Amino acid sequence: MTDQYDVDMSWDDFDEARDPRPNTNQFDKVVEAAISRRGFLGGALAFGSGAAVFGSGLFGSTTAARAGGHGKFGFHPIGIATDAAVHVPEGYKSNVLVRWGDALWSDADGAYSPETGVSADMSDKVFGENTDGMELFEVNGKEVITVNSEYVNPKINLPAASEGTPQTADEVRLLKNLQGVTVMEIAKATDGYSVVKDSPLNRRITHETEMALAGPLAGHALVQTKADPTGTTVKGTMNNCGSGRTLWDTYLTCEENFNGYFGATGEMPEGEGYIRYGIKGKGRYAYEKFDPRYDISNEPNEPHRHGFITEIDPSDPTSTPIKRTALGRFKHENAEMVQAKDGRIVVYMGDDERGEFLYRFVSNGVWAEGTDGGDLLNDGTLYVAKFNEDQTGEWLALTPETTGMDMANILCFTRMAASAVGGTTMDRPEWVASNPIKVEAYCALTNNKNRGVKPNAGGDDTSVNAVNPRETNHYGQIVRWTPADENHAADSFGWDLYVMAGNPTVHGDEYGGSANVNAGNMFNSPDGMAFDSKGMLWIQTDGNYKNEGDFAGMGNNQMLVGDPESGEILRFMTVPYGAEVTGLCWSLDKKVAFVGVQHPKGQWPDGAGKPRSSVVAVWREDGAEIG
Ligand code: FEO
Ligand code: CA
Ligand code: CA
Repeated sequence: MTDQYDVDMSWDDFDEARDPRPNTNQFDKVVEAAISRRGFLGGALAFGSGAAVFGSGLFGSTTAARAGGHGKFGFHPIGIATDAAVHVPEGYKSNVLVRWGDALWSDADGAYSPETGVSADMSDKVFGENTDGMELFEVNGKEVITVNSEYVNPKINLPAASEGTPQTADEVRLLKNLQGVTVMEIAKATDGYSVVKDSPLNRRITHETEMALAGPLAGHALVQTKADPTGTTVKGTMNNCGSGRTLWDTYLTCEENFNGYFGATGEMPEGEGYIRYGIKGKGRYAYEKFDPRYDISNEPNEPHRHGFITEIDPSDPTSTPIKRTALGRFKHENAEMVQAKDGRIVVYMGDDERGEFLYRFVSNGVWAEGTDGGDLLNDGTLYVAKFNEDQTGEWLALTPETTGMDMANILCFTRMAASAVGGTTMDRPEWVASNPIKVEAYCALTNNKNRGVKPNAGGDDTSVNAVNPRETNHYGQIVRWTPADENHAADSFGWDLYVMAGNPTVHGDEYGGSANVNAGNMFNSPDGMAFDSKGMLWIQTDGNYKNEGDFAGMGNNQMLVGDPESGEILRFMTVPYGAEVTGLCWSLDKKVAFVGVQHPKGQWPDGAGKPRSSVVAVWREDGAEIG
């Protein structure tokens, strides 16, 4: 029996098991607040109040929707699936573009074996595991996809004898290399697209790739280590979850559950910052046993160098990725960049943990079309969102004056700064997407089993509120906000809930979902989101796929398309049992959508060997645009 690590848990469960909640929590206060709210509003009335926050245009005709292919929806919606296949609407086709283990260079041909996976020596020459956020760029007339590999499944990658926990430094090297980012050229093929092997643009970025630490936290004592006494050069980007792109066409990769990679072989350093970020004891992959950089009893500052938005230039494979500390350190889901009326850059970002916050960065400098961003992302102000009960909201600046913390501490321990100013605790903020044809943005609040039950890791109140209106929220919701004066840099906004996911066939109360959810389109745990060029919102789920109990009738994870105007939502795609759908981008001609299928079970897509996380291409048989 090997020393057991928590390899089979979801990241959410991993955090829950470590339970970084404070010992003296505010549980009593939370319960008291929840009860008084119920007392004031009264059972069903409480939902009535919530329902009032839905946009008035939400009650679209679902009967017309099921007829399919109407109006702005270019497809007939599909039913749920419970099988091990990808399903797309009638008139559409799909195939696999690239799988975990596929060679990016010909010297890695045959690197993947159905029996043993990929060897350590080949592991940085193949497409990584567990695909996530991605973006497509045009580089010198070529189409290039940048795509994250969020994490690895050790039981799939390591020999059975290892029981899911690395036993050697080489096994750690294998896991490190199969995560990070892939940059790959793609080209049209007979059926969809294929990866251009040996393209000079192809690149793998791993937990060992050298990158620069930039912005106000760079060089500070909090980020200095034995290996990097200057605090300016970091190895690796990790747990790359969602994505973003800059207006100057670089890629933003978002470091999410970085805490899970660090452990202590000796004494744990003390500090509120470790507790708030869930860093203690054992890491998830035993890195600390084989690489002293991940051992916080040896390098207490190494975790302070991760959890950032990292910028990568897809047009130059020799470029150094840059960690942008001005955008704060937390479990970054994605980064949605827009431009304010005066030319400043605005980036919306979620922190995906129960009861954490939604953030906004506003640059000090302005960006002009046709220029690159330079160091615009090094200089600006970070804000946390506060949602008021009356459907208004404010962005609260995180500054030394408002938080009582200095700038380095605000950027290193951003969660604590957000708590200090009283941001609204949210139901796990996942992706933010902004509408290209209207000044508004959406955030998927995926679920939160602790809403109204336990405070967040900082002890903040997580009783129900108007924007997170359900206790023990297993279904999730999508909030939408409209900045004042149609200006993303404005400090106030109005908001409503675009959709509350739920199961109307099981529940007759608020857990049945909002009026735009019905037996034909229901889903749970919205996560990935992206707008297409026509202003339709594509929604991907990462939820419970057991198709029973509260989730009966929802089937496997799915991708849906929502109309912001009518509120109507139709199901476009389902993925194999066990997988989540995450990551979405379109070909330059908008005729092909690339969709990530992460952590499938069984033997998808090969029908033999191991389950292989993959990117799937989807297109219309008649060759029309779909994005
Ligand atoms: Fe990696 Fe929050 O999803
Ligand atoms: Ca996600
Ligand atoms: Ca998720």
